[in-house]
Amino acid sequence: MRHLMSPLDFTTEELDRLFDLANDIERTPGKYAHSCDGRILATCFYEPSTRTRLSFESAMTRLGGQVIGFSDAASSSASKGESVSDTIRIISCYADICAMRHPKEGAPMVAAEKSEIPVINAGDGGHQHPTQTLTDLLTIRSLKGRLDHFTIGLCGDLKFGRTVHSLINALVRYEGIRFVFISPEELRVPDYITDMLKEKQIPYEEVIRLENVMPDLDFLYMTRVQKERFFNEEDYIRLKDFYILDTAKMALARKDMLVLHPLPRVNEISVEVDDDPRAAYFRQARYGVYVRMALILTLLNII
Ligand code: NCD
Repeated sequence: MRHLMSPLDFTTEELDRLFDLANDIERTPGKYAHSCDGRILATCFYEPSTRTRLSFESAMTRLGGQVIGFSDAASSSASKGESVSDTIRIISCYADICAMRHPKEGAPMVAAEKSEIPVINAGDGGHQHPTQTLTDLLTIRSLKGRLDHFTIGLCGDLKFGRTVHSLINALVRYEGIRFVFISPEELRVPDYITDMLKEKQIPYEEVIRLENVMPDLDFLYMTRVQKERFFNEEDYIRLKDFYILDTAKMALARKDMLVLHPLPRVNEISVEVDDDPRAAYFRQARYGVYVRMALILTLLNII
């Protein structure tokens, strides 16, 4: 039995197979409409989510399966003091696979140790968000045809943004990747990540001004300032609108650059950018369903 805790749990060859499957599902969804008949997905979400939870539910439903679950800790037995380990033992009796989001780093891993069904980490605190990374990689591969030889700018909250941490971890396995980290001083990417890049001799630079680097980028991955992970409101208010991508900044970018964002967006991308053909974030959300369909089939050994 296999779980998904980090994007590195799959080799790059396994990821290629997963993405091929996701692209096949995109082309011929009817072929997979009954692949999960009689199977149940449990979504255990101890932290708010729209996209991740609903895209999992949509994925399982489109495969013919059913979904049970809860969408906040207050409505689960966690509010009575039940541990994650006990909860997953019970969920193992009710479902065939579980997607879990938790505010505590490592909680889905604790669950996986006691689980009798595959557990998917659907985001654990500021740590990892592997299914968002699978979504990001599938989007890049589908829109550009490859996952190597890119300069990718990551902009915004690089300190608390788990999607950023997971994506960097995943991209370092491909050749010719160069990172440009764009953030205010207070929200710089954690040292453990820059240490890892130095050790692997992967080129990166850290800058504050987005305008200066726009022309260099193949991708710009925008992120929201993670309000819920701030210790004080004042810092959040000071930093929340540090970057706003607008048409003036887009004019500095290449014609074939693509803008990604895991969403939800707050103010960091002005809505006028949505009409720019280089804005790929809504297409990215669609790939999130295909990749989760492929992941469910893979972890349940149906394909
Ligand atoms: C992200 C998350 O939850 O980390 N959202 C998502 O799953 N698409 C990004 C965010 O909340 O900013």
